Amino acid sequence: MDKVIKNGTIITEAESFITDILIQHGKITALGNMDDRLDNAHVIDAHHQLVMPGAVDVHTHIDLQAGQFHTTDDFFTGTRAALCGGTTSVIEHLAFGPKGCSLHHQIDAYQQRAASLAVGDYGLHGVIQHVDESVLREMGELVQEGITSFKIYLTYNFALKDDDVLRVMRRANELHAVIAVHCENDALVNYGRRQLVDQGKTAPYYHAVSRPNECEAEAISRMLHIAHMADDAPVYIVHISTAEGVQAIREARARGQKHIYAETCPQYLLLTQDCYYQEDALKYVMSPPLRHQSDCHALWQGLADGTIDVVATDHCPFNYRTDKQAGNGNFTKCPNGAPGIEERVMLLFSEGVQKGRISLQQFVKLLCSAPAKIYGAYPQKGCLLPGSDADLMMIDPNASSEIRIHALHGAVDYTLYEGWKLNGDITTVLSRGDIVYQQHVFTGTPGRGRFISRHVTI
Ligand code: URP
Ligand code: ZN
Repeated sequence: MDKVIKNGTIITEAESFITDILIQHGKITALGNMDDRLDNAHVIDAHHQLVMPGAVDVHTHIDLQAGQFHTTDDFFTGTRAALCGGTTSVIEHLAFGPKGCSLHHQIDAYQQRAASLAVGDYGLHGVIQHVDESVLREMGELVQEGITSFKIYLTYNFALKDDDVLRVMRRANELHAVIAVHCENDALVNYGRRQLVDQGKTAPYYHAVSRPNECEAEAISRMLHIAHMADDAPVYIVHISTAEGVQAIREARARGQKHIYAETCPQYLLLTQDCYYQEDALKYVMSPPLRHQSDCHALWQGLADGTIDVVATDHCPFNYRTDKQAGNGNFTKCPNGAPGIEERVMLLFSEGVQKGRISLQQFVKLLCSAPAKIYGAYPQKGCLLPGSDADLMMIDPNASSEIRIHALHGAVDYTLYEGWKLNGDITTVLSRGDIVYQQHVFTGTPGRGRFISRHVTI
């Protein structure tokens, strides 16, 4: 049956206007007055509501094996939480595979796991953990298979050296693929950790001390210079947490680099190092760590002036009551990462739009259209154009809501934002035309999620 979203305030990255949306066979087919289509359609009243593209989260670790720990979500609970929070598409960053494995090794494993479980649509970033001719060739194969971006890490077990980064970026430039980089200076971080542990400084607060702003800023700046050496290769800096990181993006753009993309996450906008003094500090152990209020301020400034392109989550859920307790007595033993896939959209709406820090158009750009464009899912995802997938979220800006872990839809046992009161509430979410969330009830089924095959755009 056709659906008509009636009388909603449509929000795009360019404008806001009141009209109707016609949905047929899972696609948006027309915008405009649909009074003559109502008889045979399922009509969804959107009066006084904001109707936006379903949000796109391009940085998730829904299903991640990290050493002895495994995230609590799988593709069912992870994409369920995403949908209930207005996020209709995720692009997952994969765990590392066995040493020396091919790029397809991890892609194949994730395709298998996601296919039967995902309730929302998902794409995959490739992960590069070593560099040789075979990996560089396989990058081309994956681009043909709809995987047009690759993650590299400068820290953790499979950190790449600068010469390998250059090889990967040159190859990405040939392919028009995007390289997403986790930027922290591995040697400095490990030196800091060793020193602190030797001095008996093992409380969670020292997690932040061990990874100071300079470790991120130096690595971001180095990556941007290497991308410049690779003839302005497309490079995407994930989870920027520092004022210096934002500044490095500005400087690279000022020297003429056009294919630079910058991401931050709600936790870096909204929370500070003070959380590491709390009794439940282990909840906040993530990399990069939480910073100072001045960094939050610089990040909001970066959103407002367009330096930062995307707000994603880095959703990486480990249970507080069990997994996170491994860091009790020694922060270096705590699995890194925090959940946030369901909270992101409403946090940014309430703390960003409703507090006047960003406009509605910037909100849609940061959460929907920019991530879809950068990673080659646009205009299938991230917009409300005729021909796009009918992925929509509806927000009542006059309602209020409160974040409570028992009302969220993931598998993890905590939220960083327990008790936060928000201005606005998500009322309805559609994924490819199906109502998957309405009046706080989830109505999706496992396995309905589809792989998002992406294309190169840059
Ligand atoms: O602490 C974090 N963010 N863990 C997830 C993996 C990563 O670094 O992105
Ligand atoms: Zn991540």
